[in-house]
Amino acid sequence: MDQASNVLFRSEGVRRLEQWRPFLVKGEQWQVGLDAIAREPADVYGRRELLIRHADSEPSIGGLAPGIEVRFGTLAPGHATLPCRTNASEFFLLIDGGIELDSDGGNYALGKRDAWVIPAMRSHALRNTGSAAARYVCYSNAAMLKYMRVFFEQACPSTQRMAAAGLNGFTRARDIAGPGHQLNETGARILPYEYLVDPDSVESRVLVWRWGELLPHLPSVLNLHPDYDGRTLWVLYNPATGRRVGTTPSFFASMACAKPMSSTASHRHASAAINFILEGTGHSLVDGERMDWTAGDIMLSAPGWLAHSHHFHDDVCVVLTVQDHPLHIATESLIWQEQLPAGPILNLGTQTGFSTNLASLVGAGKKPERE
Ligand SMILES: [Fe+2]
Repeated sequence: MDQASNVLFRSEGVRRLEQWRPFLVKGEQWQVGLDAIAREPADVYGRRELLIRHADSEPSIGGLAPGIEVRFGTLAPGHATLPCRTNASEFFLLIDGGIELDSDGGNYALGKRDAWVIPAMRSHALRNTGSAAARYVCYSNAAMLKYMRVFFEQACPSTQRMAAAGLNGFTRARDIAGPGHQLNETGARILPYEYLVDPDSVESRVLVWRWGELLPHLPSVLNLHPDYDGRTLWVLYNPATGRRVGTTPSFFASMACAKPMSSTASHRHASAAINFILEGTGHSLVDGERMDWTAGDIMLSAPGWLAHSHHFHDDVCVVLTVQDHPLHIATESLIWQEQLPAGPILNLGTQTGFSTNLASLVGAGKKPERE
């Protein structure tokens, strides 16, 4: 059969899943890589960045998980990146050094472990204001956009917000067009074209989580009651993500603080999880595979729908986790199984989700305190 006629397949052939395997990049690997590109020319945007390419990824797209691009960057003292914007939304963590972020008319001085979000299509630039190299890690949904062949990036004349081409001050055409019609008892509706080209917008802003402001809140999760069965973490919440509890529209980022010799139960979820170990050592069991990790390592620790658990060794572990959880909530695809092998599979965001044992602890006078 020639290629042109071979476009139809039996459904079982094209719907079979091949999951990516867990994947760990050692701290020394990305550090050596950054030292090497520090001596090479910058890219057209003045950046020196390394993209992680998972062994199972398409070579031209990369990504540490399907749809999640992770890249490390280095910026020499006095150097700056050029203003640019992309239709990806991005979450950054400054690993070390001192930089100034310019975006959206704002100017932010950032230091070690400060984190920030750049919304889509918002021009931004970084300048190293310190005396040593600054290094950062960025998580972006660019990999998903590349799979969809719609990734966009361009240089900008400045870091000021580009003027919208809208019709501010005018009546919205969709309001003139009217609310359409409900067709029947199921709630199905029809709407005019004007709704497609002028959906309601949500203000999305540059946000900064300064380490010095987050740090005082970490002991309170570390010291939660030992009987508490939830995770000891804070979510870095961006109010623009609303009920989807994200840091960007696609990802949440959380900062976990885990006690020595503690573990999480084995569970699985459609969202992919990437752990960047900031402090401590431990191992993860992912679909039967053991991954040992230490501070500086970054890992696809939970490929979507693979069972996994995390085990923390002798020290307190501080772990930055990024998951494409809000993306899945938006598409009603966030299936989650907290107890393996026989616990219920819930579709989070479309039904009541799982509980922790907070209520029983409160009843027993053992309420965990978070400050
Ligand atoms: Fe998980």
